[in-house]
Amino acid sequence: MKLILLGAPGAGKGTQAEIISENYHIPSISTGNILRAAIAEGSELGLEAKKFMDQGALVPDEVVVNLIKQRLSQSDCANGFILDGFPRTPAQAETLEKMGVSIDAVVSIEVPDEAIIERMGGRRCCESCGASYHVKYNPSERGELCEKCGGKLVIRADDNPETVKKRLDVFHSQTEELKEYYHSKGLLKIVIGQEEVADTTAEMSKVLESLK
Ligand code: AP5
Ligand code: ZN
Repeated sequence: MKLILLGAPGAGKGTQAEIISENYHIPSISTGNILRAAIAEGSELGLEAKKFMDQGALVPDEVVVNLIKQRLSQSDCANGFILDGFPRTPAQAETLEKMGVSIDAVVSIEVPDEAIIERMGGRRCCESCGASYHVKYNPSERGELCEKCGGKLVIRADDNPETVKKRLDVFHSQTEELKEYYHSKGLLKIVIGQEEVADTTAEMSKVLESLK
């Protein structure tokens, strides 16, 4: 199964991608996590990406496209994958299509902006594996540590209210139009992401079962 998750920052793409990845035994590929890992390594790519990410802006298409090309060529992607946070612009979507990747479905997780701003204040992310938690809605069973890998949970650098607002603006102006693009290809599925995590997962499961 080859899936794309679309949605605003904080819509729950990463949370659902991890669940689908475990249930369907396919890798979840987050361009945001790959870029944050590059920043943590202090690589040239990371230093360049950080300038954009700290502003809540998109990293240039060619940088992200190269990362995705490398990642999708790895052997664990042969049986499918979930793309979380890519594509994010029409140019990225067109590149993916030109690569000959045939996507089974594009699931848009829909959450109103007000709910997102409220959520982001309580998000905590694992600094080692990138897993996402929430102090109220999705706490880690290990408190300040990641349930999956034991890594430390931290507040992401771009989760301050000002940058979240910028990221939402960028989503509405550059990414949301991809819904129309994938709708026109008959691939778009809508999932309401405003209820609890388990409700979104249940909705998502219905969509994924319908693809079989
Ligand atoms: P990225 O890391 O992709 O961030 P994002 O798209 O802004 O999405 P988030 O990770 O913030 O949110 P999410 O939808 O995964 O939500 P989550 O599951 O964590 O990108 C960061 C930056 O990298 C970009 O700004 C850009 O600069 C760059 N970048 C990345 N990809 C790029 C690309 N393709 N092109 C160019 N630049 C790129 O959930 C959010 C919170 O809510 C969590 O606390 C979670 O526990 C909680 N939660 C989840 N579901 C629910 C629910 N149903 N109810 C209540 N709480 C919930
Ligand atoms: Zn972790």
